[in-house]
Amino acid sequence: MPTLHIESKKEDIAKNVLMPGDPLRAKYIAENFLDDCKLVNKVRNMFAYTGTYKGHKVTVFASGMGIPSIGIYSYELYKFYDVENIIRIGTCGSYNKNIKILDVVLSNEAYCKTYFPKLLDGADLDLISSSEKLNNKIITKAKDKGITLKVGKTITSDVFDVYCDNHEKFRANFPDMGFLSVEMEAFGLFYIAKKLGKNATCLMTVVDSLYDKRSLSSKDRQESLNTMIELALESIIN
Ligand code: HPA
Repeated sequence: MPTLHIESKKEDIAKNVLMPGDPLRAKYIAENFLDDCKLVNKVRNMFAYTGTYKGHKVTVFASGMGIPSIGIYSYELYKFYDVENIIRIGTCGSYNKNIKILDVVLSNEAYCKTYFPKLLDGADLDLISSSEKLNNKIITKAKDKGITLKVGKTITSDVFDVYCDNHEKFRANFPDMGFLSVEMEAFGLFYIAKKLGKNATCLMTVVDSLYDKRSLSSKDRQESLNTMIELALESIIN
């Protein structure tokens, strides 16, 4: 049952999906965390793999960058492949003093100045929550595993804020809501999940910070990403 952007057979997509932005990260997760995995999508090189984690079927499907891209893949997966749960696992920036480089952040709400809901449904909306059910599982698992998790609101931005000439002006676009992170996809995913009666949330590793300018070793970065990936896998199979 191919769709416009996915060539997979329906039975090759699990109900539970992890969604990194980067197709090569999907490959990395499949090769390092899943058993018996196979490549189930390569249209546009948006790689997806399905395998098992501790005996449970899981698909890792890349989203690409930005709301338009994650909007398409999440819509087709929920609507045509009967996917129930998607956890986005990504990287983010932060301009919150309490958030440090390599912190793992869970987005319980996403705020976005976008035309996306208006174009799709005529809806006026700038703040949307993620799945409480998935969030509770992630929070419980993080406690069990001794992982410090920061939970709060994220900004989803239609521009990569690092490239804004005046970052102060960029930040002035947003209300003072104590945002923990800034990224480019969560709002689109949460919106599509809500629209279709499904579940979604977003875990992020902080890789850019206004207040923490330490440069990252690739080993530290990979370890933090691995912590997030394992937390997402443990939570989604439960
Ligand atoms: N801003 C937006 N998206 C991002 C960032 C950032 O600083 N880092 C990784 N994704």
